[in-house]
Formats: sequence, structure tokens, C-alpha cells
Amino acid sequence: MLSGRFIILGVTGGIAAYKAAELASALTRAGALVDVVMTKAAQEFVQPLTFATLTGRPVHTELFGSSTGGIIPHIELATRAELIVVAPATANTLAKLAHGHADDLLSSLVLAATCPVLLCPAMNAYMYAHPAVQSNLKRLSEMGYHIVEPDSGRLACGVEGRGRMPDPGVIMEHIKTLFLSPGDLRGVKVLVTAGGTREPIDPVRYISNRSSGKMGYALAAAAGMRGAQVTLISAPTSLDPPPGVEVVFVETARQMYQAVMEHFSTQDVVIKAAAVADYRPKIIEGKKIKKREDTLILELERNPDILFELGQRKTPYQTLVGFAAETDDIEANALEKLRRKNLDLLVANDVTQPGAGFGTDTNIVKLFYRDGRIKSLPLMDKKALAHRILDVVVELRSRVDG
Ligand code: PMT
Repeated sequence: MLSGRFIILGVTGGIAAYKAAELASALTRAGALVDVVMTKAAQEFVQPLTFATLTGRPVHTELFGSSTGGIIPHIELATRAELIVVAPATANTLAKLAHGHADDLLSSLVLAATCPVLLCPAMNAYMYAHPAVQSNLKRLSEMGYHIVEPDSGRLACGVEGRGRMPDPGVIMEHIKTLFLSPGDLRGVKVLVTAGGTREPIDPVRYISNRSSGKMGYALAAAAGMRGAQVTLISAPTSLDPPPGVEVVFVETARQMYQAVMEHFSTQDVVIKAAAVADYRPKIIEGKKIKKREDTLILELERNPDILFELGQRKTPYQTLVGFAAETDDIEANALEKLRRKNLDLLVANDVTQPGAGFGTDTNIVKLFYRDGRIKSLPLMDKKALAHRILDVVVELRSRVDG
């Protein structure tokens, strides 16, 4: 897929620059033609010769001076590039790109480029968390830049936290995705729900379920990566929201209902990956319940079925995708939900299977289409599955549009 593709790898001045060498090598091995562009600070960490040796191609460092035959280097590179990857992208480079500064070769060529740009921020955790950096990332994402979120862990500076550049293998996956799906959801509004709702019993206790939010967050990130304008309505999770996604945090099923209904009429696609509590305690005690008796009976009452109501309200131009977490009779239950809730697609996971369903990084699903087709997908990472589901959404939408 990358064979013969012209990719510019921008390397800026952070300790993660050494990982960029591995990325350059991986891209070259995959057949891409990789020209590296280094900032001055990057050259403090790694020599241009390292990249030239790994890629067998030119390494560019100067805005002026290397032009031949009247060709301006940054314009020439920007015109030829099929993808620009900036890895690592420092806080300084992000700030420059967010505000259109063009004071060196890399910032100038990114400004002149029309191809997709993938930014891989890497820096100290406090720098990454700083509102200035976060607001620059938000701005960049809104401008259409693709962003790979840094990993958490122990950083080179000794601090624990988010800021570590992901492994080159992870960045390669993002690059392949960009080549595979160049913005096929651009201009499409996608609403995703994620996580397990919490239904309070008293001020310290609640009823919930095992949803980690990973499936829903992967869908939101994948839709954003493919150019969609994404709204993520999230029940509590321990995940960081994908950059560039509007997030509405909720706790209970009724709050999720409220938030989804407020957004629904403007959405083109709704994907309900959240595990919504069907019941809530009828009475929420104002004070912590004391243990007095051997048994305690909680009376529960029904929560609204959000997906069912969306199915009633949806127009022919809206695509509605539901999930079903099943433990038995998958096919019969899935088909019943697909019809009763008036869905275009139902993604059913048998949550008893190892590697599927709640909390895992992977999932195993069957896709049930409104037209009767059924597709079984093998065990796969939730991030990859998110793209497979969105492929189907794109296919379904092309029929509506066409
Ligand atoms: O979050 P993870 O740990 O990654 O796990 C992913 C997942 C298992 C939660 C996900 O893959 C999944 O299956 N989500 C749906 C779980 C669920 O609630 O299934 P259900 O069969 O009870 O509901 C069917 C559909 O109706 C779901 O789309 C649900 O969002 C929706 N629903 C259910 C009840 C309700 N009151 N309102 C709803 O909208």
C-alpha cells in the first residue's frame, strides 16, 4: 500500500527524534519514498546522516540555499508530498503550525501542503497537559490535521504521564489508515456514545456495568481520522477523549438520553456503542444507606431506551448503528433488536467469548444489515474494528446519497 508513495517525515527537536529513525526505516522497508525534513533543534538529537542512510534519500534542513533551477524547496516538497508525518512534533512546532508561522523549512512546507498531515506530539507530560498545547492541538484538529495521541508512561525526563511518542508500529498503522481512507467521512456529522452509564443508589454507590468505553472511543477516533465532525457522548471512563472530538460527559442513562436527543437532529450518523443501564433505582437515597438488615431490596424502574427512540425519529438520510451485547441466542436477539429499534446496522458481540466485549482491547462481532446480510468478523483490535464498522457506514451512506 505504501509502495512508491512519497512521504515527508518531519522531525523536530525532542528526545523522541531517535524513534523517528525507526519510523523512517519502517516506511522505507514498506516501499515508501521518504524524504526527511529536520528542524535545527532536531539535529541536536539525531544526525541527518542517520536518516539519509536509513532512507537512501535526501534529508532537507534548510529553507534557503538548496534550491536548484529556480525551484523553491518548500513549495517543491509540499507539491510532491502525498503525506506529511511530523514525528515527534514538539510543543513549539505545534504552536507554529496552529498559528501559521513559517520560519523554517518544515513549518513553511506544511503551510504550503495540500496533502494530509499527521502530527505525533511528544513532550514532557506537564507541557502536553498545558492549556496552550491542548488548545493548539484542538485548533489543529479543527483545521483538519490528523493527530496521534501520545502514550502514557515514564518519560525520558523522568516524569510519569502522557507525552511519550507511540511506537513506530502504531504510527505506521495510522499512516496506512490515512492512505486507505482518505477522508471518506469528510463533512459528515457522526455522534458516538460510549462507556457504561452509572445509576446512583445513594451518594456513594451506583449500579453500572463493565463497559470501559474502548469500543466507543475507538469509533470516535476513527471517524475523526476519516474527516468526520464527531460528537462523543461519554459515560464515565478512564480514557482520554480523542483530540478534535467534541465530548459531552454524562453519568446516567437519562443524562445520556438528554444529550443524545439534543444533538440528534443535526447528525448524519449515530453509533450507539454505550452500554446503557436498562433500569435505575426508583429512589436515590439522599444519605448513605446504612447496613442494618441482612438483605436489602432495591426497587428499580425502566430507563428510556435511547436507541429505540432514535429509530422512531430517524429520517431516511440518517444512518443508525446499534450494538448488542449478548450472552446467548446472538442471531435471534440481534435480529429482533435490529427490527424493533429500526436500525440500519447492528453490531452484535457475544460477550462470553474470550477477547470480545467489555473491557478488552479486542472484539469479535457479527454485523447484521437491515437488508438481511450478516457478516462475521474475526477477533480484531477495537481500533481496527472501528474502521471496519465505518467502512460499512460509508457503504450504507453511499446508497442513500446515490
Ligand atoms: O466499552 P467496552 O469495554 O469497549 O465494551 C464494548 C461494549 C461491549 C460495551 C460494546 O461493544 C457494546 O456491545 N455496546 C452495547 C452494549 C449494550 O448495552 O447492549 P444492549 O444489547 O443492552 O443494548 C442494545 C443497544 O441499545 C445498544 O446500542 C445500546 O447503546 C442501546 N440502548 C440500550 C438500553 C437503553 N436504555 N438505551 C439504549 O440506547
